Amino acid sequence: ISIKKFIEGIPKAELHLHIEGTFEPELMFEIAKRNNKIISHASIDELRKAYSFNNLQEFLDIYYAGANVLINEQDFYDLTWAYLTKVHEQNVVHVEIFFDPQTHTDRGISFDTVIRGIHKALEDGKKQFGISFKLIMSFLRHLDEASAFTTLEQALPYKNWISGVGLDSSEIGNPPSKFERVFEKAREEGFLTVAHAGEEGPAEYIWEALDLLKITRIDHGNRCLDDNSLVQKLVELQIPLTLCPLSNLELKVVKDLKDHPIVTMMNRGLLVTVNSDDPAYFGGYMNENYQSIADALQLSKKQITELAKNSFSASWLTDKEKENRI
Ligand code: HPA
Ligand code: ZN
Repeated sequence: ISIKKFIEGIPKAELHLHIEGTFEPELMFEIAKRNNKIISHASIDELRKAYSFNNLQEFLDIYYAGANVLINEQDFYDLTWAYLTKVHEQNVVHVEIFFDPQTHTDRGISFDTVIRGIHKALEDGKKQFGISFKLIMSFLRHLDEASAFTTLEQALPYKNWISGVGLDSSEIGNPPSKFERVFEKAREEGFLTVAHAGEEGPAEYIWEALDLLKITRIDHGNRCLDDNSLVQKLVELQIPLTLCPLSNLELKVVKDLKDHPIVTMMNRGLLVTVNSDDPAYFGGYMNENYQSIADALQLSKKQITELAKNSFSASWLTDKEKENRI
């Protein structure tokens, strides 16, 4: 069978996905209308045309603006449900997704509203599609430590719904060390930890995520290749990297997908996975990410199988659950 059919057919887990990054313009306009919110672009087409980025920050500015129309629990439900419907068609059977509470609580939306909507959709996705899930609460690293602590406090009543904490937003100038104490508290409370590191920031930030935040996975991690001893460490500990090919292309982390380091990383023994990051903004969900990298780097079915298997081994499913999924 063709590589395309092979990618479509193989069961996959998604481990690096921002739910706010799945907000398609069609749904954004629909929700804006019912909430009497104005979008600064005149039409769906105009909005899509604005999705052209030179770096992470240019994307983040548009991504946070888009989230402004989300007000009610139903909005968060609809957003999450649309994502699950989409990835169900792509044979994604397990998801570990991020939400950014501060993006909403800073606009006066309650933590409760946000998490209830997302959680209810995830439960329904499990019932209707059999998609298992974990939810990861991500701190915005451009905001201060106090704001992250407040967010962690707000999350405590919903501990059963949140498996881990993460760190995202503007990387350069906001190193993991800024959140060492917040992550320490989060671990004490029983949360697993991950962090975006080495997307635009240096290898040093990946070291900090490992040593100071005690992360179980690195989100992106592209820049680890600048530091041989870091690569050695990540291989030795089998710390997974959640790579996002189309995101890297759209945010100019790589010039061309032919330059994407995924194969180099696999060959060096790193545990790498393919993910979509913010599919509504970067032009593709899981299968499009697999396909684009398969095309650019001439991946074999064996390599694609390895990547799909990695997505489960790198997940937070138990060993028994993993066996049932692979
Ligand atoms: N990097 C940092 N912050 C983000 C990203 C990303 O790729 N996507 C959404 N928030
Ligand atoms: Zn991300």
